[in-house]
Amino acid sequence: MPDSQPILEVLDLHVHFKMLAGVVRAVDGVNFTVERGRCLGIVGESGCGKSVTARSILRLLHSSQTSGQILYHPNGDDEPIDLVNLDPRGDAIRAIRGKDIAMIFQEPMTSLTPVYTIGEQIMESIRQHQNLSEEEAQELAISMLNKVGIPDAERRFADYPHQMSGGMRQRVMIAIALCCEPRVLIADEPTTALDVTIQAQILRLIRSLQQDLDMSVIMITHDLSVIAQLADFVVVMYLGQMAEKAPVVELFQNPKHPYTQALLRSIVRPDTPPREQLHTISGSVPDPRNAPSGCRFRNRCPSVHDRCLEDPPVVEFGPQHTATCWLYVDD
Ligand SMILES: Nc1ncnc2c1ncn2[C@@H]1O[C@H](COP(=O)(O)OP(=O)(O)O)[C@@H](O)[C@H]1O
Ligand SMILES: [Mg+2]
Repeated sequence: MPDSQPILEVLDLHVHFKMLAGVVRAVDGVNFTVERGRCLGIVGESGCGKSVTARSILRLLHSSQTSGQILYHPNGDDEPIDLVNLDPRGDAIRAIRGKDIAMIFQEPMTSLTPVYTIGEQIMESIRQHQNLSEEEAQELAISMLNKVGIPDAERRFADYPHQMSGGMRQRVMIAIALCCEPRVLIADEPTTALDVTIQAQILRLIRSLQQDLDMSVIMITHDLSVIAQLADFVVVMYLGQMAEKAPVVELFQNPKHPYTQALLRSIVRPDTPPREQLHTISGSVPDPRNAPSGCRFRNRCPSVHDRCLEDPPVVEFGPQHTATCWLYVDD
C-alpha cells in the first residue's frame, strides 16, 4: 500500500451550536487529512474547537449543526463513507464508533464507570463489537491490559477504577479503545490530567501501539511538546479555524503564523537557555460568539495590521504547508 493513503478526510467542516444567546461557531471551515498509519496532531489553546472537531468525527454532538464532509475510507479503493450524513444514533455510526474509530478522553475517571471492575468494562467493549466466547473475550482483555503495561493484569482485572492511579486508569482507557484494533484512534488530551513522567510513558505507549497495530492517530493537545513527540503532520487551530498546517519538522523549523510562533515561544525546547523566561501569549481565546471579524487572532497578534480586519488568505509555503495570514501578502 502506498505511503500516503488517506483514511479520513475532513473537508470544510463547520460545527455550530444554536444557543439562546446566539450561534456558537465552534468549528468554522476546517480541512485536514489523516493518513494510514500516521499521526495527525491538532494543537491550539483551550476553547479553539479541538474537542468539537474530534467529537463531530464520531457524531457525538447531538445538538450541533454540522456541515461539510468527513470522509472515512475503510478500504483503499471503495467509496468512502461520509460520516456527516450518518444518523448520530443510527446503527451505521455505532458499528464504526469504538470499532473502526475509537477515542480516548482527557479524564479517565469520568469515562470509566465506578461501579464495574475494569475487567467488566473492557469485556463490555469487546462484546459490543466482536463475536467471542466469554473465555476468549477475557483472554483478549487481559492481553490488552498487559500490552498497555499494567503489571499483574490478571489480578488488576478485578479492580475497580478507584483502586488505580490516574496513569493506570488512562492505560485502561487505552486498552478499552484498542481492544477492537481500531484503524483510527482519536486521543483528546489523553495526558493532560497526568504528571509529566506518566505523560511521557503514555505517549510512548501510544506511539509503540500505533506502530504495532499500523493505526492512524489523531492527537489533540494544547501542548506543542506533545505534538513534537508524536505527530507526523500538524494542524494549528485558533477559534474554530485553521491558523497553520504543516509536516511536523517544517512547523517547528519554519513556523509562519504569528499564533504558531507564539505557541512555540511558550514551550520549553532543548535549545532554551536555562532560566530563560518562557513567554505566554497575551490575552485569552475569546468566546466564539465574540470572535473578531477578519482574522480571529488579530486582537492578540503582535504583527496586526489594518488589513487584518478582512478575512486572511490561505498562503502556501511549500508542499503541504499553509498559513492563513495577511503577513506574507504584499500590499
Ligand atoms: N455542546 C456545546 N454547546 C455549545 N457550545 C459548545 C459545546 N461544546 C463546545 N462548545 C463551545 O465551542 C468552543 C470550542 O470548544 P472545544 O472544542 O471544547 O475547545 P477545545 O477542545 O479546543 O478546548 C468553546 O467556545 C466551547 O464553549
Ligand atoms: Mg478539548
